[in-house]
Amino acid sequence: MPHQLNAEQEMIRLMARDFARKELEPYAAERDREGIFPLDVVKKMGDLGFLGMMVPPEYGGAGAGAVSYCLAVQEIAYSCASTAVTMSVANLSTEPLLKFGDESQKRRYLERLARGELLGCFALTEPGAGSDPGSLRLRAEDRGDHFLLNGTKVFITHGAYADVVNLIARTGPDKGNKGLSAFIVERGTPGFRVGATEKKMGLRASNTVELVFEDCKVPRENLVGRPGLGFTIAMTALDSGRIGIASQATGIARACLDEAVAYARQRRQFGRTIGSFQAIQWMIADMATSIEASHLLTLEAARSKDLGLPFTSQASMAKLFASETANKAAYHCLQIHGGYGYTMDFKVERLYRDARATTIYEGTSEIQRLVIARRFLKE
Ligand code: CAA
Repeated sequence: MPHQLNAEQEMIRLMARDFARKELEPYAAERDREGIFPLDVVKKMGDLGFLGMMVPPEYGGAGAGAVSYCLAVQEIAYSCASTAVTMSVANLSTEPLLKFGDESQKRRYLERLARGELLGCFALTEPGAGSDPGSLRLRAEDRGDHFLLNGTKVFITHGAYADVVNLIARTGPDKGNKGLSAFIVERGTPGFRVGATEKKMGLRASNTVELVFEDCKVPRENLVGRPGLGFTIAMTALDSGRIGIASQATGIARACLDEAVAYARQRRQFGRTIGSFQAIQWMIADMATSIEASHLLTLEAARSKDLGLPFTSQASMAKLFASETANKAAYHCLQIHGGYGYTMDFKVERLYRDARATTIYEGTSEIQRLVIARRFLKE
């Protein structure tokens, strides 16, 4: 049984579930309504090791591996999808340093990120560069002992609260993805400021902002990897990020299924519960089957990562399938709730709005299909 969990994975899953039910579930609706980013809760997650789950203990992490990480994100997302994206991006932001950072960068930043003492974000997207990050324009001019940054990043998850930014910028004269490099930028560096906050349809308890760099000096020792490696570093981080988002989407879909089942059991029409009608049963059967498939695809990608095997296309398959599943599950859950589902009195309207982002960020469904198809056509 490839997906039988070991004792440690099961323990982490239950620990995340317990945390989510106590610290997130009771407050998720209010945080969504008021747009509250729960920094205190994020700190608690850091103390529990949830922000550095895939970082080995010698660098301050939990060393729990990708399978445990996926299980934990799923449990967090079940109760609060906003907090799950915070967790996912915090973990993603450890990847560039873990895989490409030098020893001093690991000691200065990775250890503290993994222990939850620092919160990290990932800044790739720009106003004119979303699906095509190879066209990004934020300039990092080489000035010897430092780089001078000028430009703007957008849609940066928890950018207003992050202590350090994993930034991808253009250093070389080369066009496209060959002239990009990765940097660590600390909050408070002169010339770096947080710009506008996005007012979003869903995931309203996660923070999404613009980051502005104006003649911002970043010391040369904060260049991660060698110049020109920025695109590879970003893609490597996104491979991991995508299993996080697949897990988030699976968690949202599971919440939709549970809400749909609970409602179908108690709502009566034509003198019987609506769950006794085949129309409703088929929706529930399709939701449950797709959720199981999402879960297995995600764990399979995570297992490959844990084994050190290539997992790029598996991560894209998991992200594609799970995010589409979350949207379909939210649609059917709302349909089962009828008019009540369209009101703010029921949880499903939040799930519906939160699910919508999952087919867009960390690579749209169309980009995932492109990554998957390229693998087969190349072979
Ligand atoms: N790992 C390592 N290297 C990789 C890689 C990967 N997964 N994918 C590509 N590369 C390498 C390639 O091997 C290639 O190297 P060589 O030139 O040496 O052969 C190089 O990178 C260029 O690859 P491509 O030619 O495939 O590049 P492309 O420009 O055609 O783009 C793409 C490929 C898959 C479409 C990529 O641009 C992509 O993933 N786009 C989506 C971007 C995205 O996901 N943005 C999300 C923003 S972050 C976010 O949303 C976070 C949040 O806050 C929630």
